[in-house]
Formats: sequence, C-alpha cells, structure tokens
Amino acid sequence: MFEHIQPYAGDPIFALVDAFNADPRPHKVNLSIGIYFDEQGRLPVLPSVQAAEARILAAAGPKPYLPMEGDAACRTQVAALLLGAGHPAIAAGRVATIQTVGSSGGLKVGADFLKTWLPEAQVWVSDPTWDNHRAMFEGSGFVVNAYPYYDAATGGVRFDDMLTTLRALPRRSIVLLHACCHNPTGVDLSAAQWDALIPVLRERELLPYLDLAYQGFGDGIEQDAYAVRALADAGLTYFVANSFSKSMSVYGERCGALSAICATAAEAALVLGQLRFTVRRIYSSPALHAAKIVAHVLGDADLRPMWEAELVAMRERIAAMRVALHARLVALAPGRDFGYFLSQRGMFSYTGLSADQVDRLREEHAVYLIRSGRICVAGLNTGNVNRTAEAMAKVLAG
Ligand code: LMR
Repeated sequence: MFEHIQPYAGDPIFALVDAFNADPRPHKVNLSIGIYFDEQGRLPVLPSVQAAEARILAAAGPKPYLPMEGDAACRTQVAALLLGAGHPAIAAGRVATIQTVGSSGGLKVGADFLKTWLPEAQVWVSDPTWDNHRAMFEGSGFVVNAYPYYDAATGGVRFDDMLTTLRALPRRSIVLLHACCHNPTGVDLSAAQWDALIPVLRERELLPYLDLAYQGFGDGIEQDAYAVRALADAGLTYFVANSFSKSMSVYGERCGALSAICATAAEAALVLGQLRFTVRRIYSSPALHAAKIVAHVLGDADLRPMWEAELVAMRERIAAMRVALHARLVALAPGRDFGYFLSQRGMFSYTGLSADQVDRLREEHAVYLIRSGRICVAGLNTGNVNRTAEAMAKVLAG
C-alpha cells in the first residue's frame, strides 16, 4: 500500500531544532527557529498570559466547539489590534476576521480560499521568504514565483526592482508581503516605501496578502501595523494573517487569525462565509483555549497594559543583543561592516554567512542557525553572545 511513498527530507528549521536538542555540547547556542528565549535561555511564560489562564481555569467553564470562524470576542479584539479600535473599515463591517490555528493555519485557510475563488491567480513571494510560504501555497495548488526583495550588496531592499516586477504582474495576482520583521532577512520596507508600493498594488489590481507574525517585535504594536493600516486607509482589498505565538509566547497553543479587509460589507460577508466553509473542510473549528487567552489578554483593562509592557521588554532585550553582537564582532573582525545587525528589525538577522560557514559554526562551535545565514537574535543572551561573536569571527576569518 505505502511502499511507493517518498521519504520526507524533514523541515530545515524543525530538523535543526532536533539536531540542537540532540547535541550534548553544554555550550551550544540555538539561533535556529524563530522563538523568543529570555535572558536565561528559557521560553518565557508571560505573567499576563498566566493571569489570563488562571482566570480561565477559575471560571471552570464548559468546553463547547467554537464556531468555524472562532470566538467572537477574540475576533473582535484581533481586528482592533490590527487596524486600531474604531477603524472605519471595522465600523463599516468590511473586515472578516476568523480565529485560526496559528497564523500558519490562517495562511493555509486563505490559500485554499483563494485557490477556489481566484483559481487563475499566481502567487508572488519575496526573494527570499520564509520557506514554508512557498510550500503552503504550492500545497494549495498555486504556482509560486518570487519578486526581488533583499539586496545582498547593500543589506537593503531592491525596491525599484520589486516595483518593476509588481507593475508587470497580471491583475489579481497574489502578492505575499511581510508586514514587519521580515523573515528571514530582518529588512523591512520603510513607511515611505509602503506608501510608494500601495498605488502599484491598487493600479495593477493585485491582492496583497500580509503576513504579520511578529507584531510588536519591530518598533511597537502600532508602528508594526503601519502596512496593515495604510492598505486599509487606501481602500485596498487584502488579507492579513497574524500570530500571537511570539508576541504572547504561546507557540503551542496555536493562537492566530486571518482577516480579509474587503471593499464592502456585503463582500466581507461573502468572504467570511467561504472562509468558514474552508475551515470546516480542514479542521472544522479552532481551539477554545487559544481564543480565551487572546480575548482575555487583549480585552482586559489590567492584562492588556501588562502584556504590552512584556512585549516592550522582549523587543528591548532583542535590541540589546543586536547591539552586543555588533560591538563584539566589530572588535573581533575589524574592517567588516556589521551595521546590518543594528538596522534590521525583529527576531531575525541575515548575516550573509554562506551555507559552508553555517555548517562550520554548527560543527566546530555548536552555534546553530539555518543554512541561509539567518540567525534568530532572540536566542542570544549575555551568557552566549560573546562566544557566538567569537565563533562567527573565526568562521569569517576562514
Ligand atoms: C521561523 O521562521 O523559524 C518560525 O516562523 C517558526 C517556523 O514555524 O518556521
């Protein structure tokens, strides 16, 4: 029955985590997966989330199925977090938000929906992007192409080339964009670049699909939502998949959402209906506990400011690690430009290290990063940053 099945080569990110966990060297450093670790190298349990869970437990409520679209309070809070409370698109009923199984669940539900309703469309992702973007959309039956994005020569964005490519796309092409904290490069579009991009998206009638997995890890909750709000203010129709995995440190709870910002309330109702049907066909309905955590933390007058402060602390710790790694590398490898560590945003930095150098870091120094040269800066702490810099300097020296 199954003898013809091809072996699965494994996911490059999850396989590296397995290899890290199996590595007996005590000084090993995990800069592989996009997870925030604290100064002690632990996965934090945020006090705001703990308090929310204590309340949920104390309420000892029943555990019914959620509706296909998820919990109403959670969905309302998510739309307000993305667009700002009272945004005209929300007031006009033009936002269809569903609670999903992490933002990956949202991306996948959106991809299946789009394959049904825009079957001729092709998908365009940034070069490079999160590996799983391509896999997910191809899995939904799309042809996936790449638009120019990262400029290895300058460490910036090939913005003119990006615009030229997007200007030539057929109408109703789907353009996947990282709303902030670009994964894997850490190189974001500036507000001015978003402002220049939006007219192209509108004139070419492209469908932007925003991935917002790191809201709050760039410059702040509001600042990191710039693209989401600018697209809405410009009257575009678009999708946004967002995640609470990192921002609430609730990875395994699978807390995420998918929102469609539509031209009219009638369109939003149609989209919501078909998103519900899409969910029903994949996993029927999302997780109750995830909904309760998100709704409590975002909606409670005490827990919300607590969570926002916790998010600031995580962001500032990452920024401090960027500064520390940069300073140490500048001292150890003078003459090289490490300024990108300071200008990039979010959890990730694209180091420019080759796959061979990455292999040496892992094999000779027990420093784990993915072979594209991306590091998760949130895996650094004051106890391992110097050693990491020393290992990088040695590998760079040849
Ligand atoms: C990452 O890019 O490391 C994270 O988004 C985790 C994942 O699922 O790959």
